[in-house]
Amino acid sequence: MQEFNNLHPVSAEGAGKAKVLVVGGGGRCHAIVDALSRSEKVGKIYCAPGNAGIAAQAECVPIKDTQVNELKDFALSENIDMTVVGPEVALAAGIVDVFSEAGLRIFGPTKAAAVIESSKDFAKQLMAKYNVPTAAFRTFDDYAQALEYVRNGSFPVVLKYDGLAAGKGVVIAEDLAQAEETLKDMLLDDKFGKGRVVVEEFLTGPEFSFMCFVDGEKVWPMTVSQDHKRAFEGDKGPNTGGMGAYSPVPLITDEDIEYSLEHIMKPVAAGMVAEGRPFKGVLYGGLMKTPQGVKVIEFNCRFGDPETEVVLPRLESDIYDIFSAIADSTPVPEIRWSGKATLGFVLASKGYPGSYGKGYAISGLDEAMSLGDVRIYHMGTAKKDGDYVTSGGRVLMVVGSGDDLKSARDLALRAAECIRCDNFFYRKDIGWRVLK
Ligand code: AMP
Ligand code: GLY
Repeated sequence: MQEFNNLHPVSAEGAGKAKVLVVGGGGRCHAIVDALSRSEKVGKIYCAPGNAGIAAQAECVPIKDTQVNELKDFALSENIDMTVVGPEVALAAGIVDVFSEAGLRIFGPTKAAAVIESSKDFAKQLMAKYNVPTAAFRTFDDYAQALEYVRNGSFPVVLKYDGLAAGKGVVIAEDLAQAEETLKDMLLDDKFGKGRVVVEEFLTGPEFSFMCFVDGEKVWPMTVSQDHKRAFEGDKGPNTGGMGAYSPVPLITDEDIEYSLEHIMKPVAAGMVAEGRPFKGVLYGGLMKTPQGVKVIEFNCRFGDPETEVVLPRLESDIYDIFSAIADSTPVPEIRWSGKATLGFVLASKGYPGSYGKGYAISGLDEAMSLGDVRIYHMGTAKKDGDYVTSGGRVLMVVGSGDDLKSARDLALRAAECIRCDNFFYRKDIGWRVLK
């Protein structure tokens, strides 16, 4: 198959230009690589481990995101100027600490700061201490006490495993029986490992993702986006890593954004400094616009996936300049966003988020890209005999841009319809809250 990409091609190694290493391998990293490839300052991009689609824009290196020492050795041997980290596992494993000790520039939070994502309890205690609006909660490590508390409360109730659980550690229990079973899994059977449980008040309202570039107390907001976590149309089915996203989010007003910046993101950034865990990198606020105002559902210590795939295409500034300024704590240049809207569909393997087959042929990518302002980010693909095949649960994200969300959606949908694979399903209702 002909190389289809209308994204930027692999950069030629330019004299005096930067060499950048992107750690990770999904659609989020593809979008970061794509944004870096638009920078005049960047000469060569490596991605570890990358994937078959990323390989059209970066040199993929077969090192896993958790092999922190191997990544450091690679960065030293290749004289990498800047490393950018996608996944939380690498951050929680201390990649930023290891690189910094070796004198390597890296964009992302230290292990001590990444705890804002890896420990739900830490994040909740921080919000309580710095008066950041969030759901009422209590943390338990004892099954009998947790059950007693839940028994005396109302339903639904939210149960969150305190640790990284790949998006599977949150259960909204509709009744006591479900709560009891979940608490058993989390506290008695240690299904995710030894941990604690945060029991949280159930909130309602539209969710949105507010990612900010952060350097200590300083915070630069990105444009907001909205993910779709459930597998099926109408927000039905199990929770997934995200089935589609769009940006901007008309339900969220400028006042909501201002409030979220001043009362959530800035106090949290300042709180992290005060706690001796200054945060550098992308702080992701998973926020909900409740009838009582915007409240925090969760924090992540990195770019969101699939939000990054719709947010970074709207970035007009040079992302390498932003990464560099934050890594070096020098002034960050003005960050500009295009007025265009973006909307993307995730094409997933049938069976995802449960078990699914791999190795199914994918075709029609060239045709999809030829429709216009379309980007195809690879989430889980491999190459077999020169052609793309599926290799993950989420396989591709097809993003359309347009003057408004409707034209972005229509374009992305037409593009998605060009792509053929015997094992795909996707939600066609991405953006349903704001589009008819
Ligand atoms: P989290 O991993 O904390 O983002 O939780 C996963 C999903 O569970 C969120 O995106 C929400 O849809 C839902 N959720 C988490 N906490 C709450 C809450 N307190 N009230 C209502 N829904 C919640
Ligand atoms: N889209 C949710 C996340 O990145 O965790």
